[in-house]
Amino acid sequence: MARRDSDVTAQCASTAIDRRWWKEAVVYQVYPRSFNDSNGDGIGDIRGVTEKADYLDALGVDVVWLCPVYDSPNDDNGYDIRDYRSILDEFGTMADWEALLSTLHDRDIRLIMDLVVNHTSAEHEWFRRSRRREEGYEDYYYWRDGSPDEPPNNWDSIFGGPAWTYDDEREQWYLHLFHETQPDLNWRTPAVREDVKEMVRWWLEKGIDGFRMDAINFLSKTEGLPDGDPEAFLTGAEHYSHGPRIHEYLQELHDDVLADYDAMTAGEMGLTTVEQAASYLEDGGGGLDMVFQFNHMDIDAGEGGSWTGEGWGEWSLTDLKDVMTRCQKELAEPHWDAVFLGNHDNPRIVSRFGDDEDYREESAKLIATFLLTLRGTPYIYQGEEIGMTNDVFTGLDELDDPMTIGHVEDALASGEIDSFDDVADAVNYRSRDHARTPMQWTDGENAGFTDGDPWFRTNANAADINVAAARAGEDSVWHHYRRLVELRHDEETLVYGDYELLLPEDERVYAYTRTLGDETILVVLNWSADETTFDAQGTVVDTADATMLLGNYDDAPEDPAGAEFRPYEAVVYRL
Ligand code: GLC
Ligand code: CA
Repeated sequence: MARRDSDVTAQCASTAIDRRWWKEAVVYQVYPRSFNDSNGDGIGDIRGVTEKADYLDALGVDVVWLCPVYDSPNDDNGYDIRDYRSILDEFGTMADWEALLSTLHDRDIRLIMDLVVNHTSAEHEWFRRSRRREEGYEDYYYWRDGSPDEPPNNWDSIFGGPAWTYDDEREQWYLHLFHETQPDLNWRTPAVREDVKEMVRWWLEKGIDGFRMDAINFLSKTEGLPDGDPEAFLTGAEHYSHGPRIHEYLQELHDDVLADYDAMTAGEMGLTTVEQAASYLEDGGGGLDMVFQFNHMDIDAGEGGSWTGEGWGEWSLTDLKDVMTRCQKELAEPHWDAVFLGNHDNPRIVSRFGDDEDYREESAKLIATFLLTLRGTPYIYQGEEIGMTNDVFTGLDELDDPMTIGHVEDALASGEIDSFDDVADAVNYRSRDHARTPMQWTDGENAGFTDGDPWFRTNANAADINVAAARAGEDSVWHHYRRLVELRHDEETLVYGDYELLLPEDERVYAYTRTLGDETILVVLNWSADETTFDAQGTVVDTADATMLLGNYDDAPEDPAGAEFRPYEAVVYRL
């Protein structure tokens, strides 16, 4: 794909628009293990993605983000990388990957890869060398002395348990913010940074269009790795999230490698404020193109966000408006947000933010309307486009996600809970497993995902909720997504326009405008199961000449101001 072709700043009306291909793009996230199995071994694979290139093209998306397909022992479904330059056997070969890239490029769909460089797998050659104290590799990871029964500090692992494991071979402790098989790379060591840069360049030279950067704000740790606040929900986080040298490391990666390519970078920023996240977009701060920050994803966290805490799933629309509006304002030009409501680490969006029982289709379309009309690059996670829902898990043995399992096991071991049932609600609300059940293609066996035995259970509702059925029905969730993607491509205002919230106090209607020059688009979302009046009188918008661009019912109120909106009705108007 041509480089730097779209890096132009154009003049439109009176506003200077900083146009970039990645601002105009809609991204589709593929979790390959659960997407499509091409060879009947029960595991989704790269050829399986290639087989669906026409499907993605029909949906109209511009970019595919492929979750890790690198060689890996798979303790965290590929986020534990053993070799950055080869493909996991189960997923196929490098030739398969190259065929995927060219198949997508032939359809003008770009491909971004996952960059996981906070940690490697413990089976990575670097770790094996470091464990043996091989010359040059001694400090590739964080090693600390100490007695085998006393970790060097009090940090928690994000996956439960301590962030340290004692290694019998080196007779030292090593740090892992995630699973014990995912040791953290020590970015202070210049050779680590050089190796990562070389690997990043290697992939860019293969022709990819960018990276989603995993846990990227965790790379720099406080010198000396001091104890964290023991009262904090995640002890130690203040010493690695947004650490002292993080901007320097990312800027170096940018200047030495990324600056040579017209590739997009989207940094995953857990545990940051909106302001901190924005700082990574600055020159000197890392020069990333956009950030995934999670402030809006925390509105329904229970007490302190703990796994055993109460209150999971309670959220209010005014909270959502409040936090989203902050993101929309603070991550507006010259900054840029990645807009998402779901991904492979979160429950299904219709189950979380909509009503997956009585208004599944309406609410899935409403959420889609929201996702695709905000400012920032929208990300659709596989299955969202047909309104896939959460599953129901009744025991630990039904789960796969090491994060959920780790926390439940912790709570059992500490006596905080007596059985799985005590946390069943929290698990069923938030487990990462919901997003990882196989993609539902047909109403056939295993939802058409595989001819073999699927690696993970298939949601029984595939009989009703599947791609084949959704594509056959003109009014389906799938067609709504397709129309929204098309609308976003047609209406520059939806990409570059300013966002203004209307009616901030309204508990049921989320309404906003997007304005570019003299063009204004109004979005009205009745985020409730009740008929609701859009109380636009008294707001600044003039709706007298409104024309509907897209809605999720057959018709829509002609003049929205003062009109009644039906349950989960979502309408986009041109004013
Ligand atoms: C990110 C990924 C998640 C993974 C973790 C460790 O949060 O999205 O799936 O488990 O990093 O790599
Ligand atoms: Ca397979």
